[in-house]
Amino acid sequence: MSRFGPDPRAFFDTIYEGEAPWDIGAPQPGLARLLEELPPEGRVLDLGCGTGDLAIWLAQRGHPVLGVDFAEAAVVEARARAARAGSLRAPLEFEVGDATRPAQLGRGFGAVVDSGFYHLFDEAGREALAAELALALAPGGRYYLQAFALEFEMENTPMQVSEAELRTRFGPGRGWQVVAVREAEFLSRVAPPVPAIAACLGRVTPDRPAPRPA
Ligand SMILES: C[S@@+](CC[C@H](N)C(=O)[O-])C[C@H]1O[C@@H](n2cnc3c(N)ncnc32)[C@H](O)[C@@H]1O
Repeated sequence: MSRFGPDPRAFFDTIYEGEAPWDIGAPQPGLARLLEELPPEGRVLDLGCGTGDLAIWLAQRGHPVLGVDFAEAAVVEARARAARAGSLRAPLEFEVGDATRPAQLGRGFGAVVDSGFYHLFDEAGREALAAELALALAPGGRYYLQAFALEFEMENTPMQVSEAELRTRFGPGRGWQVVAVREAEFLSRVAPPVPAIAACLGRVTPDRPAPRPA
């Protein structure tokens, strides 16, 4: 399901023994811009929240957030950062858990945010995640993600996400609509920015069904 060996959790646990390369101490700017332009509504679920900066940023802007990550050290650090952050304007919780099953973390979320989570998985994993997201989100809810737009074909690296893939997997025939999709950059502590894709994908509400394809 992922490129991170037989025990992905052990891989990420090891990374969080030091400073994770993706831990830039702030949300990824491309994803933050998208969220500012198209603000989420309702309770937000942050998949693979890591050390919590995106969830904290959202709570500082008044959005209630649940952040979930299976790496305990990341969640401990996220809670510590939240305690230091101050000026939270909405409830913020972090849980250690499996984020591949968002519907088991709750139903009726207004939004799900994903900074570098979806791109960890292969086709089957992405398909399963999309089905779970459809259950976890309220009608009209939105899925915001930022992912690598390049393929590196190396162990322990994310896999490319393309606009065509998102348009197919999150298309109207499946109860989704593409609200926005754009180029972005993934910043890290260790390497130049990586070309990325940022997208906002909306669940089609029952009273506003997607048009039937001609
Ligand atoms: C590339 S990091 C991104 C972290 C954070 N969202 C950020 O932008 O800094 C991916 C995160 O997903 C977490 N993760 C991977 N697979 C997971 C799973 N099945 N359940 C929960 N968390 C997972 C990892 O522990 C890691 O924190």
